[in-house]
Parts: sequence; structure tokens; C-alpha cells
Amino acid sequence: MDTAKEVEIQKEYMEKVRKINSGKELKYMILTMGCQLNENDSEKISGMIEKMGYTKTNDSKQADLFVFNTCCVRENAEDKLFGKLGELKKIKEKNGTIIAIGGCMMQEKHITDKIKASYPYTDILFGTHTMHKFPENLYKTIIEHKKREDIIDIDGKTYEGLPIKRENNLQASVTIMNGCNNFCSYCIVPYVRGRERSRMPKDIIKEVECLAKKGYKEIMLLGQNVNSYLRVERENNVKFEEYQGVNSFATLLYAINKIEGIERIRFISPHPKDFTTDVIEAIAKCDKICKMIHLPLQSGSTEVLRVMNRRYTKEQYLDLVEKMKNKIPNLKLSTDIIVGFPGETEEDFEDTLDVVRKVNYEQVYMFIYSRRKGTPGDKMENQIPEEIKHKRFERLKKLAESQIEVNNKEYIGKIEKVLVEGKSKTNDKMLTGRTQSNKVVIFEGNEELIGKLISIKIVSQHMWYLKGENQNA
Ligand code: SAH
Ligand code: SF4
Ligand code: F3S
Repeated sequence: MDTAKEVEIQKEYMEKVRKINSGKELKYMILTMGCQLNENDSEKISGMIEKMGYTKTNDSKQADLFVFNTCCVRENAEDKLFGKLGELKKIKEKNGTIIAIGGCMMQEKHITDKIKASYPYTDILFGTHTMHKFPENLYKTIIEHKKREDIIDIDGKTYEGLPIKRENNLQASVTIMNGCNNFCSYCIVPYVRGRERSRMPKDIIKEVECLAKKGYKEIMLLGQNVNSYLRVERENNVKFEEYQGVNSFATLLYAINKIEGIERIRFISPHPKDFTTDVIEAIAKCDKICKMIHLPLQSGSTEVLRVMNRRYTKEQYLDLVEKMKNKIPNLKLSTDIIVGFPGETEEDFEDTLDVVRKVNYEQVYMFIYSRRKGTPGDKMENQIPEEIKHKRFERLKKLAESQIEVNNKEYIGKIEKVLVEGKSKTNDKMLTGRTQSNKVVIFEGNEELIGKLISIKIVSQHMWYLKGENQNA
């Protein structure tokens, strides 16, 4: 069956559930546990749920439908899911709440087995490839009063035209590709998200045009490996329709840069090995692309990188950074780093610190290595003791934070373009926004400025935010 037909069928199910629910004033809650792709999926799940007559609540006691959108990239997510499922049991006994669990963790058989054995009151289990069928699964649960498990192990297709309920009315995430082919040896994502597949250029461009018309100012392009957009299709001679000349990540950036109304473009995550010259040039040439690029390092040691299957060396990474800094004026970088990967020696870790010192990141996202069942990393014998992992993590954190402080000081006295996001959560009289380098800026101002790009003079720095003054006031 083609995907458009499948989407039509789900729309019919949405209508059926809406009729059953009409007049009941039902509520739903969704708990999003993962990355930005996972958040974007939650917006799609919420879109379908709202079409079925539920309104959102943040109080689990009031929810008639509770959905978990899970992540499994690190271990702590599992404890969180099982803890919350335990809490929900009592709520379900009282209110008859329908409990559904979806997302990446559901693609792991040992997890779904555990849920079925220990949390049998769960109603619906759905995976990353069957998310679009949520309306059908919910309908059948309501009508048949039976538990449903809808998880497939083969790669999902790309479904266009399903509803979406966005969390924010200024910044929108747009998934451009799904899955990952890289198989970094620590990572579970390729096993739970399947192989790389890109959305068609026309669908992405139309979506962004539509967002621009609705008043969105900032677009975040999402994928596990955004800079290999359409690569698999090109390499395997899969026929796809070019639209506005788009046939690669660089050409997609140019096309989106032209869309009127959009002021800022960001993207995550690119892979260093796929950072081709055309992409660097596109970033330099497109005025709307934020000159703040996330460039995951993972480790600074060539040997650890080899075992991680990252396919670049310490030197190649540093050369890439040099090349990017030369071609893109005022470029700022952020990164992801894992400490304590199996076999990481003190010298290896020193190499990581060395790269951090040399690159001088604007932001470092640090993770302690977490063993993931089914990945090559989990089978490696030279696992690093927890104590050493934690000590290294603290050392890296100290270095990264000292860099942030120095970098923040450089903002003082400068005029920055800030996209005003809303009122500050901690102080009603202040507004909050972000620089193109993604720094939070707090300043005094009138609510009418929300949604605008304005010039702010930075006056002081505080670890996680900057304070400024509105230059237009
Ligand atoms: N595709 C993206 C990120 C995917 S997961 C990329 O390649 O950059 C986000 C981050 O989680 C990774 O960059 C990595 O730093 C971290 N991560 C992934 N698996 C992990 C593991 N097993 N233990 C600790 N951190 C991990
Ligand atoms: Fe995981 Fe590597 Fe793919 Fe990123 S590129 S999702 S870290 S396997
Ligand atoms: Fe987690 Fe899946 Fe994202 S494992 S990090 S939610 S792709």
C-alpha cells in the first residue's frame, strides 16, 4: 500500500475516535524522554491525539490517555520509564487511563518483554516505524478492550501529511531524514531507528514555506546525520524528484535560506566525516544559517575514534575545524563527547582534553559511556570502572565550564541580534531570547518585542545566560 493511502486510513481512524470521544472532554499527557527528533515525533503524536478529541494536560492524575515517547541512548532512561509506569498503575486503577508506550526503547525486545511481564496494565506498545498508526491502535484498544503491540523490525517509510501540534510558535523543528547507517560502536540508534532515509525535497520545502506563512522565524533541521541528506538515495540510484534544484544537504540549505519570513536556520546533527566543502560554503554564504555549528567529537583520541567506528582521526577533525573557521567568519562550535569508552586510557582522555582546548567550544554536551545491549561496545572486555569514568567526566566538565566563562566574557559590550522568545520564567518584567550562537539573553523590554529579531547590547555574563539592554528602546 502506498504511504498516502495509509495516511488516509489513519485519518479515518482519527475521525472514528473523535466521534466516540465527542462530548467527553478527555485529556491526554505525553512524556517525551529523548532527543529533538523524539520531541518532533511527540509533536506528531500530539497532533494525531488532538484530532481525536483529547486536550493536553500536564497532570498525570487527570489524563485519560498517557503516552510515553521513550529514548534508549543511555541507561538512565529505563529507570525513569519503569518508575513512572509504577506510579501510573494507581492512577489507572482509579481513572481507567489508557497507557501507551512508543519511541526508540520499544524497538528493544528485552524491554517490551519486561513491560509485558512486569507492567501488564500497559495498553499499547508501538515502535518508531509504526508511530503513524497510533490512531488505529488507539481505536482498536477502545473498541476491543485488548492490549495492542504494533512494532516492526523493518525500516519504516516516510509518511507525509499527518497532523502536528507544535510546542512553540516561533521555532519549528523539521525532520529531514530518519535513521542512521553509521553504526558507531557505542550507539543503539541505528538498531532502533533503522536505515537512513531522507524526506523528499518538495515535502520539506513546502513544510518550511507553510511554517514561514504561519509566522515561524527559526527552523531547526533534524536528522541523525543531516549532512548525508539524500546520500543513500544518490549512491543507490534510488530515483527521487529534485525540487528547486535540491539533491543534497548543501542545496537544501540554499533553498531554505531563500524562504521569505524565516530568519534563522539551525541543524543537528552533522557527522564530521560527511562535512563536505559544499556544505561549509553553503553555511558561509547563506545569511540565515546560524554560525554556530554542532560538530560531535565523541573522543579526541585517534585510537578510541577508530574503535568507536567514527571514521575520522584527531588530526582530521582538527583540520576540519580549521577549514571551517577559515571559511566561516566568527564561527562558533558545540560538540558531544563521551568519556570512559572501553579501553580509553589516560593518554586517550588527555587527547580529548587537548581537542577541547584547541577548538574552544561554545558548548560541550558531555556523556558518561553507557553500555547498550546489542552494540559492539557492550561486548568489549576492557570496560572502564565507574569511578574513573566519573573522575574524567568531572575533569572535562571543569575545562569546558572554564571555557564557557571566558567565552561569555567576550560578549560583554557587544551588540547581538536576539530573537525574542517570550517572558523570562523567573522574572516577569524581563524578556528572554537567544543569540545566533544559541546563548540565552535576558533583558528588560515590552511584550510586543516577542517574535522579533532585535539588537541587544550585552552588559554582563552569568554561566548559563547573558544580560543585555535593548538598543532600540
Ligand atoms: N546522531 C547524532 C547523535 C545521536 S545520540 C550524532 O552522531 O551526533 C546523541 C549523543 O549521545 C551522541 O552524540 C553521543 O555523544 C551520546 N551517546 C550515544 N550513545 C551513547 C552511549 N552508549 N553512552 C553515552 N553516550 C552516548
Ligand atoms: Fe549513533 Fe553514530 Fe548514528 Fe550518531 S552517527 S546516531 S552516534 S551511530
Ligand atoms: Fe534517544 Fe531515539 Fe533520540 S534513542 S536520542 S530518542 S533517536
